[in-house]
Amino acid sequence: MTRREQIAALVREEMAGLPLEEADAADGHPLVLAPYGAEEVLGALDSLLSTRVTMGEKVRAFEAEWAAYCGGAHGVMVNSGSSAVLLMLAAMVETGRLRPGDEVLCPAVTWSTSLFPIAQCGLVPVMVDVDATTLCIDPVSARAARTDRTRAVLAVHLLGQPAAVDAFDDLLVLEDACGAHGAVYQNRRVGGLGSASAFSFFFSHHISTIEGGMVVTADAELADALRSLRAHGWVRERADKAEWAARCPQIDPRFLFVSAGYNLRPTELAGAFGLVQARRLPAWLTRRRQNHAGWCEALADLVTVFPEAPGTEHAGFAFPMLCNGDRASLMAHLERHRIETRPISGSNLARQPAFERVPGARAPVPLPVADRVHEQGLFVGNHHAFGRAHGVRLREVITSWRTP
Ligand SMILES: Cc1ncc(COP(=O)(O)O)c(C=O)c1O
Repeated sequence: MTRREQIAALVREEMAGLPLEEADAADGHPLVLAPYGAEEVLGALDSLLSTRVTMGEKVRAFEAEWAAYCGGAHGVMVNSGSSAVLLMLAAMVETGRLRPGDEVLCPAVTWSTSLFPIAQCGLVPVMVDVDATTLCIDPVSARAARTDRTRAVLAVHLLGQPAAVDAFDDLLVLEDACGAHGAVYQNRRVGGLGSASAFSFFFSHHISTIEGGMVVTADAELADALRSLRAHGWVRERADKAEWAARCPQIDPRFLFVSAGYNLRPTELAGAFGLVQARRLPAWLTRRRQNHAGWCEALADLVTVFPEAPGTEHAGFAFPMLCNGDRASLMAHLERHRIETRPISGSNLARQPAFERVPGARAPVPLPVADRVHEQGLFVGNHHAFGRAHGVRLREVITSWRTP
């Protein structure tokens, strides 16, 4: 055995006990479980041992794989899902597809960093209500909030349920698919439904690079903007770098800056993780979908659940419910039984203190569903290592809260 093979054997032995594929419901119901195994660690270790740790060939390979999976030609990996949303919007402005002051419709129930980057890019976030059956943007509320400045919609596929993007044919559709890896809307995978999409590969998501994210697009010009905005505004990763160099002969082409960019780059270790995790996704997705459907059925008479919408495939990221009672008491009851809980994403973001600090943000229409989510909503974990037994246990514990 070579030394590398010895190391690999040790890592595999050391990590063999992790509940990567099967977790026992008797051990409780956490929000997150260890999402990676020895193969990811060995991929990252290979990068560390080679010292090729900054963004390179593994990131590029993962970008190509993930973009192809989503049906987009270009993937641009970054260091988080929040960075992906920011980069996607910044590139839309950089390329003139959106202009400062344009209004972007945003569902009131989403994650904080779906909303903030809209304003950070000089655009105007307009909050609208979510649909009571999907928790995604409500097209009727969106219509009521539109003005002649409305140019785009941030279609958040909340917790794995694809948003009804077809209702926004006359707007630029930007997808926040940070929690919807592999979800399908009318036979098309999310990530390829609009002009561009953002994914998160945070520790608790369907697949994980620990921290990480990606923008996917079919638009080559946008992809060039994404690449220079991701890395200091540099020209070096753009397809049109030769043209830029010819236009600026007085500047060293290795240090030619063409955008007012950021540094949002991932490391090569994240690329190594992504390559292994992407191969695991199909089987994991099947299990999450089974859990989602089975648990909806098991709990439908006890709490409000959110079954997969017709014409879609739900990706089952966390399991949301409305408790129709005293949420704090249900959460405490579940926690006492080692079922971890959380509010649904940022709940109604228009009610968060930070909302007042988002320049220009408006909430011009009533948000009754978002308010209900804010007051009654919670989620518990859904994970590919969970199964039917976790649904049975959820039912038992919620029943004992309903009939103490
Ligand atoms: C809808 C949505 N958008 C954006 C994000 C931000 O992703 P990250 O945590 O990788 O920054 C999340 C995180 O869960 C999310 O759920």
